[in-house]
Amino acid sequence: MDLYEYQAKELFGKHGLPITAGDVALDVDAAVAIATSINGPVVIKAQVKVGGRGKAGGVKLAKDPAETREIAGAILGMDIKGHTVHKVLVAHAADIAEEYYVSFLLDRSNRSFLAMASVEGGVEIEEVAVNNPDALAKIRVDALEGVTPAKAREIAAAAKFDEAIQGQVADILVKMWEVMVAEDATLVEVNPLVLTPTGEVLALDGKVTIDDNAGYRQPDHAGFDDSDADNIETRARAMDLNYVKLQGDVGIIGNGAGLVMSTLDVVAYAGEEFGGIKPANFLDIGGGASAEVMANGLDIVLNDPEVQAVFVNIFGGITACDAVANGILQAVDQLGDSVTKPIVARIDGNNAVEGRAILNKANHKFIELVDTMDAAARRVAELAAARKGA
Ligand SMILES: Nc1ncnc2c1ncn2[C@@H]1O[C@H](COP(=O)(O)OP(=O)(O)O)[C@@H](O)[C@H]1O
Ligand SMILES: [Mg+2]
Repeated sequence: MDLYEYQAKELFGKHGLPITAGDVALDVDAAVAIATSINGPVVIKAQVKVGGRGKAGGVKLAKDPAETREIAGAILGMDIKGHTVHKVLVAHAADIAEEYYVSFLLDRSNRSFLAMASVEGGVEIEEVAVNNPDALAKIRVDALEGVTPAKAREIAAAAKFDEAIQGQVADILVKMWEVMVAEDATLVEVNPLVLTPTGEVLALDGKVTIDDNAGYRQPDHAGFDDSDADNIETRARAMDLNYVKLQGDVGIIGNGAGLVMSTLDVVAYAGEEFGGIKPANFLDIGGGASAEVMANGLDIVLNDPEVQAVFVNIFGGITACDAVANGILQAVDQLGDSVTKPIVARIDGNNAVEGRAILNKANHKFIELVDTMDAAARRVAELAAARKGA
């Protein structure tokens, strides 16, 4: 999960990194109250999980509470690259002499961690990497050795930080690494890290990605998730389903990630003939495919307003097809009247004949059985196109 800047700074504060005083506000009055308590010039910053807020007009200075009211009002509700601003960070404005870049990230391709640092910060670091690669120091960090004060010095020197501030920068790097380890982060980035005219080094922006797989040992991180409880992906996660929303019309349910991936492909291919019908989601209900999991899966997929028809593609292995067929019927039964969209089922593998017989006998008005994967994909695309056109 990517954190908002204000959440990243909460972690920075906890680990002793130098940040400017500030707080998050959900409305203009709260923003004004924070500016009043800071009692000096502030910066008002749109809290959206996307970079380049400054350029997009989402970061503005305000000299006093009155100006804060005006600017916070303009930023709240603003759209930044498709993200609506619901919160602003109101922070003490720093005087800036220079802007730098520092980060730690998980370097998957090298199975290691990487430190990146540059005295040319503030701008998009990708630009520095392309236009002036020598100005971006990249130093491998061993996971077990971590970032000792000596290692931090090595990084600061490689990035050619001025000798006078190398000690401060190294101290900041050690603390950033502490955030990385203690908070199970895969990215800790500060851009800009700034030098004030009085010689202080401060983190003015923060980006942290925490590893959701470590959630079980980071109970405090649950509070960082502000995703809408009605959101379809959040509901799927609460049901322990492997669900990914896509932009399309055919709901997909399958057992096994490989089968679901190829189901997406055959539906997208078949859909071309019907005016560009596409899969609406990835959903792997796993090997068990019990009635309960099937019901949860159908519930999620059928409740996606974009879905016009559903393709249930099951290959019976350890779980036999007759059990899966009963599961589908029980699931449809449980969902009752909420099933109003056609469901195309293809079941093959262990006990396929018995499974198909069960579905044929049930003769449910919304369930259609098709023998092969290609034919089922074609049929579901056809049904989706017909409903979409209607
Ligand atoms: N607390 C602050 N005081 C003064 N200037 C700031 C402060 N925070 C940000 N800025 C300025 O705004 C610029 C953009 O802000 P930043 O937080 O980096 O957002 P983004 O990276 O999304 O554009 C910074 O490079 C810095 O020049
Ligand atoms: Mg920034």
